[in-house]
Amino acid sequence: MASPLRFDGRVVLVTGAGGGLGRAYALAFAERGASVVVNDLGGDFRGVGKGSSAADKVVEEIRSKGGKAVANYDSVEAGEKVVKTALDAFGRIDVVVNNAGILRDGSFARISDEDWDIIHRVHLRGSFRVTRAAWDHMKKQKFGRIIMTSSASGIYGNFGQANYSAAKLGLLGLSNTIALEGKKSNIHCNTIAPTAGSRMTQTVMPEDLLETLKPDYVAPLVLWLCHESCEENGGLFEVGGGWIGKLRWERSLGAIVRQKNQPMTPEGVKANWKKICDFENATKPQRIQESVGSIIGVVSKIDSDGGVSTNHTSHAASTAPSGFAGAIGYKFPPFSSAYTELETIMYALGVGASVKEPKDMKFIYEGSSDFSCLPTFGVIVAQKPLVDGGLGEVPELPVSLEKVLHGEQYLELYKPLPRSVYSYFEKELICYNQFSLFLVGSGGIGGKRTSDKVKEAVAVPNRPPDAVLTDVTSLNQAALYRLSGDWNPLHIDPNFSSFAGFDKPILHGLCTFGFSARHVLQKFADNDASRFKAIKVRFSKPVYPGQTIKTEMWKEGNRIHFQTKIHETGDIIISNAYVDLVPASGISAKTSSAREELQSTLVFEEIGRRLRDIGHEVVKKVDAVFEWHITKDGNTAAKWTIDLKNGSGKVYQGPAVGSADTTFTLSDEDFMEVVLGKLDPQKAFFSGRLKARGNILLSQKLQMILKDYAKL
Ligand code: NAI
Repeated sequence: MASPLRFDGRVVLVTGAGGGLGRAYALAFAERGASVVVNDLGGDFRGVGKGSSAADKVVEEIRSKGGKAVANYDSVEAGEKVVKTALDAFGRIDVVVNNAGILRDGSFARISDEDWDIIHRVHLRGSFRVTRAAWDHMKKQKFGRIIMTSSASGIYGNFGQANYSAAKLGLLGLSNTIALEGKKSNIHCNTIAPTAGSRMTQTVMPEDLLETLKPDYVAPLVLWLCHESCEENGGLFEVGGGWIGKLRWERSLGAIVRQKNQPMTPEGVKANWKKICDFENATKPQRIQESVGSIIGVVSKIDSDGGVSTNHTSHAASTAPSGFAGAIGYKFPPFSSAYTELETIMYALGVGASVKEPKDMKFIYEGSSDFSCLPTFGVIVAQKPLVDGGLGEVPELPVSLEKVLHGEQYLELYKPLPRSVYSYFEKELICYNQFSLFLVGSGGIGGKRTSDKVKEAVAVPNRPPDAVLTDVTSLNQAALYRLSGDWNPLHIDPNFSSFAGFDKPILHGLCTFGFSARHVLQKFADNDASRFKAIKVRFSKPVYPGQTIKTEMWKEGNRIHFQTKIHETGDIIISNAYVDLVPASGISAKTSSAREELQSTLVFEEIGRRLRDIGHEVVKKVDAVFEWHITKDGNTAAKWTIDLKNGSGKVYQGPAVGSADTTFTLSDEDFMEVVLGKLDPQKAFFSGRLKARGNILLSQKLQMILKDYAKL
C-alpha cells in the first residue's frame, strides 16, 4: 500500500469553509495533520449578512477530533487579513484553497450592476486578494499549493448565470498565469470545477441526487493537488460523485485565408469556414508559445516568396501527419553571411576561448601572429535561415518552435575558414553543414525514417578515454554565445525557458559543441585550426550556464572520438561524436605551395637586395625590427622580418630572431597596394585591413622606407 498523504507541519487556508465543499476540505486536511484556517464570512448563499457561527462550528468539529484549526470571519475581499490569521496562529502559509462563493442568478437582461459586481468581487477579486497575500510567503519558502474553484457554468455556460460564469472562467485565466509564474518557486496552482450537493445546489438539484454528490467526493482531489508530492500545475479538472476528469484545449488545424499582397476578406473566411471548424487532426496546444509560434509561422509563410493560396493544403499550426511531402527537398532561398574578426572573436569567447589559456590568444586577439577563426564557426555562417525563422517557411513542416530540438550536427570544412569574409568567398565552397532537428510529436510521416545523406554518429570506443579536458562555463556563457546569432530567448529569458519546461535558460547545444571541438583541437591538433576537417555530434541533454563541460576523447588514427559530459552530474550531453583531423604533414605542403604564389615575396626579396647597399644608413635612421605576417585567403601564408636595427640590416623569411618592435599583419594584396602607394597604411590600419602590434609609432618610419620602394 502506498503511504498515506500527510500534511503534518503544513498550514492550509480554506476560504468559505463554514459549509458545503469548504467544510469537507477543512476537515479532510485537518484529519491528515494540517493546521487549518477556517475562513467564512457567514452570510447567506446570496452574500447577504455575516456571522461567526459557520466558521466556529467547523473549527469546533476539527478540534473535537484532535485537529488544529482557527477561525477567520473576514470576507475574502480582505485577503491580507485572512492570510494574517494563518501567519499569526501558525507562523506560515502553505496551501490556499479559494473556495468561498455566492450566487446572484438571473437571466442576462436582468443582471443588475450590483449583482454583476458582487459576484466578481467575491469569486474573482477575492481569490486574487487572498492568493496575492500568501504569494510572497510561498515564494520565500519555495513551496505553495493553490486551488482555484471554477465551475462547469463558466466552462460551458449556464442559463441564468452570466455574471457567475464570467467570474468562474476568469479564475481559470488567473490560475493559468499563476501556474507559470509560480513554477520556479515550487508554487503550483490548479483549478477545479466541482459538482456537489450543498446549499448552493440544493435548490436546483433533486434531493436523492444531492445525496450521491457529497462534498467528500471532491475533497480527495483537492488534497492530492495540494500535496507536496504532486507535480500537477496549471491543470483544470471536473470532479463530482467520485469521478475526476482533466480538461484541455483543442484547436482545429485551421486554414490560412490570406494571400500575399492581397486583402483579407470576410468572403475568404466564409469560403474556408468548414476547414476552420474541422477538428480532424486537431492539435492540443498547451502553451502560449505554441499558439503564438504557429501564428508567426503563418505570417512568415504568407510573406515568403511563394505566397499561400487559400486552397493550400498546408497548415502553419501543425500538419496532417501524412503531409510532409512538400518539405522534402525544399531549398532555402540563397542568403549571405559576412563576417569580420569581430564575429569570429565573439564566437570564440562564446565557446569558452579565454585569455587564461595563452594558446587561445590566436582565436581572440586579431593581432596575434597566427590569428585564426575557430573551425566550428562554420556552423554560424550556415545557421542563418534556421535561426531567422526560415523553418516556418518550409512547406508542410509543422512548426511549433517550442518543439524543435537540435538533434545532431555535422560540419565539414573544405578549407580553413578565412579570418574575415566580406562577400561570398570567391564562389568557393568553404564548408558543408548538416543540421538534424527533431520536431517533437510530429511523427507519422510514413516512408523512410532517415536519409542516406545523413552523416552517421559513431559510438565512442569501449575503453577509458585517452584524454579528458574540462572547462567551467560562465553564468554569462549563453548570453555571450547568443551574440553569434542564435537569439532564441530560451537561452536567456527565465520566463521563456520555464514555458519551454526548463528550470532556467539553457546553453545552446552548438555552444557546447564549440567547447568540445576546441578541446579536441587543443589536445590533438596543437590548436591548429587548419588541421580541422570535420565534426559530427549528437546532442543528448541540455547544459545550464555555470556547469562544467568535460570532453572525453579517444584517438583512433586521424579520427578523435569524443563524448561530452556535465562534470557535476555525469550526464552525457553530447554523445557518439567525432572530429576528423588532417594529418600534420598534409598542412605544411599546402602552406609552402601557397607561399610560392605570394606577390609580396618578390618585394621582400628586393628590399633585402637594396639593404645590402644602403642598410647601414637606414639602420641608423630607423633602429627597429619589423615582422610581417602576410595572409592569403584569410590565413597566414608567410612571415618575413625586416631587421633595421642590427648591423647593417637584413631581410629574412620567418619570424624575428629575438623580438620584433612592430608586427604587421595584412593580406598579400593589401601589402602590394601599400607598396605601390595605392593604399595609405594609416587608412588601412584604421579600416582594419592592416593590423599592427607592438610599437605602432615606428610604422611611420617604415612608411618612409616602403615609399622608397614604391617605385619598384
Ligand atoms: P456553499 O454556499 O455551501 O459554500 C460557500 C461558502 O462560502 C459559504 O459558507 C459562504 O458563507 C462562504 N462565503 C461566501 N462569501 C464569502 C466571502 N466573501 N468571504 C468568505 N466566505 C464567503 O457552496 P458550495 O457549493 O460549497 O460552493 C463552494 C465553491 O464551489 C463555490 O465557489 C462555488 O461557486 C463552487 N461550485 C460549487 C458547485 C456545486 O455543485 N456545489 C458547482 C460549481 C462550483
